[in-house]
Amino acid sequence: MIRLQQLHKWLGLLIGLQLLLWLSTGLLLNIIPPAWFSADLHLQTQPTSEHVTSLNQDIRVSINDVVRLSSKPLSEIELITIVDRPAYQLTQLDRQKIFIWADTMLTTHTNQQALSIVSLSESQIQQIAHASYRGDAPLEPAKILNNPTTMPKGTLVITARDEVGTRIFVNRHSGNVIAHQNDRSDYQQWLLMLHFMDYNSDNGVSFNHVWTQIMAVLSLLFAISGIRLLLHQLRKGHFWPLRKNSATVNLYHAGQFIAQLNGRSGVMLDNINRYAGQGKGLITQCGGGGQCGLCALQYLTNPPAPSKHDIAKLSARKLTQGYRLSCQHIVSNADLGLSSHQLSQWYENDSKMNKQT
Ligand code: FES
Repeated sequence: MIRLQQLHKWLGLLIGLQLLLWLSTGLLLNIIPPAWFSADLHLQTQPTSEHVTSLNQDIRVSINDVVRLSSKPLSEIELITIVDRPAYQLTQLDRQKIFIWADTMLTTHTNQQALSIVSLSESQIQQIAHASYRGDAPLEPAKILNNPTTMPKGTLVITARDEVGTRIFVNRHSGNVIAHQNDRSDYQQWLLMLHFMDYNSDNGVSFNHVWTQIMAVLSLLFAISGIRLLLHQLRKGHFWPLRKNSATVNLYHAGQFIAQLNGRSGVMLDNINRYAGQGKGLITQCGGGGQCGLCALQYLTNPPAPSKHDIAKLSARKLTQGYRLSCQHIVSNADLGLSSHQLSQWYENDSKMNKQT
């Protein structure tokens, strides 16, 4: 039962922490206006790659050349422009996209023809980034992404020195602006990650990922252990309303009578604390879990048989002297001895109660 109590507490802590995160991040995401989080705060909506509408382009690579020279079978070929030059967007059967110049055919050292893969220069990438940025801040040189997993291969990042740290992601093969991001959108992503427990970067967009499954199992265990502990408490006679006023408890300190209280349902600890009013009562650390030993009282007559919690927490001498953990024994007719420390707590609460009445 001790292990079950500990399991229940640790599960409660874990689930409680995540609930706190759900609540706090959900509140923040609702309170803060979505526009504040916008990643497109400085986005200039302007296409950088567009379909060719004029046939006056200098196209030197035919579709037949593309099909013949492509290293993989293609499902789609599209003629587009990249930085004002004609290019082909090739879609492979695995949906991978390749971009080749339509105005350039390469010749290898063995005199073979080869397609010219688009790979934009630093200045062209800067030009595309500038065109997509409507702020006034200067842009830093393009950098290769350290963690390119979420962006297409060949994507570079250009950072603007503005108030929100705008980052522009440009792909050097397609010439496309993949995305704008900034410090505020990072903050939103961070809140969303905590809210949806999206702790793995490759969780995808589904909410039904491994962390929610783990949390669901932990919550189920928490509920089962809670029910099990409740049944245990009921079996021990706690929470039975019919036991109300079924016993009389006399409190003593150093042989001196302190008070008499009518026993009610529950354990001795509950009754003493209830009698002591709204204050602290006997201060414990485990709240009745049989773990801290701070609720030990001396039965001056007829001590009940020690429970396993008594045996675990109290010495053999104390057990012989009638000490028991008051959180582990239901209320009964008894004379109980309070220690000086317990008496001071009890008096403190008693006086508080008197002040209130
Ligand atoms: S309250 Fe902690 S052992 Fe009784």
